[in-house]
Amino acid sequence: MAEFLTDVKTLRERARQEMEKGPVTDAYGADLDRVIQVCNEALATELVCVLRYKRHYYTATGIHSEAVVAEFAEHAREEQEHADKLAERIAQLGGEPDFNPDTLTARSHAEYGDSLDLVEMIKEDLVAERIAVAAYTEIIQWLGDKDPTTSQVFKELLAQEEEHADDLRTLLERLPRDLAERRAD
Ligand SMILES: [Fe+2]
Ligand SMILES: [Fe+2]
Repeated sequence: MAEFLTDVKTLRERARQEMEKGPVTDAYGADLDRVIQVCNEALATELVCVLRYKRHYYTATGIHSEAVVAEFAEHAREEQEHADKLAERIAQLGGEPDFNPDTLTARSHAEYGDSLDLVEMIKEDLVAERIAVAAYTEIIQWLGDKDPTTSQVFKELLAQEEEHADDLRTLLERLPRDLAERRAD
């Protein structure tokens, strides 16, 4: 096994230096500024997803919309939880969570989407989820073992985005034929 651990005395001394950095110690292995920036991009993604799902929830109509809007509401709530987890992690790392609405859509991985058509809404949401899945997978791979806590946050988000994508695919598959035919358009 490789030689592990700095001796106790050195660890204790180091912990007393730069105490204003809170949980970030010199054992932190990632590029801190870049990690904060990446977390802020993900925060923007989550906030845009909350807005899109809320928009879809309040504007979806039609006889097939009932089960669909329930899903939109649940996803909106979960995306808000994701945003909160990211903001919390950014603050822990000593960064500033960026909630600036002026630059939100430009910083987000996923897009807003303002269709009024139920099938289009589900498709937009599915695309957004697939973008989040791809982005978060890359982020986890990029972080490697250099920042396990941030990596864990993204792993939890990723698992839920995959569930969301699966929910939406299932909705598309189950929509009655008259709606489903328009999927091919
Ligand atoms: Fe999310
Ligand atoms: Fe999602």
